Amino acid sequence: MVCFSHFDLTSSSSPPFGEVDCIFCCNVLIYLQKPLQRRLLDRLYQVLATPGFLVLGEVETPTDNLREKLTCLDSKAKIYKKSGEATGDRQARDDW
Ligand SMILES: C[S@@+](CC[C@H](N)C(=O)[O-])C[C@H]1O[C@@H](n2cnc3c(N)ncnc32)[C@H](O)[C@@H]1O
Repeated sequence: MVCFSHFDLTSSSSPPFGEVDCIFCCNVLIYLQKPLQRRLLDRLYQVLATPGFLVLGEVETPTDNLREKLTCLDSKAKIYKKSGEATGDRQARDDW
């Protein structure tokens, strides 16, 4: 199923969607300061399913805190895979 909804990436409220198989977040991070990039990517990581895919913009990369949790599938296309421990991630998402 494909679901469209508006969501302010800088908002502190929970995203209006649950477990997501694929997130395209292209060319937005580059406009944000590192702490906000980190917070936003953490939240996107938490709503990503396991396995799930994150696609970033051409000049964007995951922040340090996620480098070990995301596997880079294509460094040119900036496609990353979440393949971490599902239980802990689900708990973190429920704790929002
Ligand atoms: C440079 S454009 C990139 C558009 C598209 N993703 C691409 O790669 O061509 C940045 C996009 O981020 C969106 N954007 C900016 N701030 C945002 C926010 N706080 N929450 C959600 N989207 C935001 C803008 O509406 C715009 O569409």
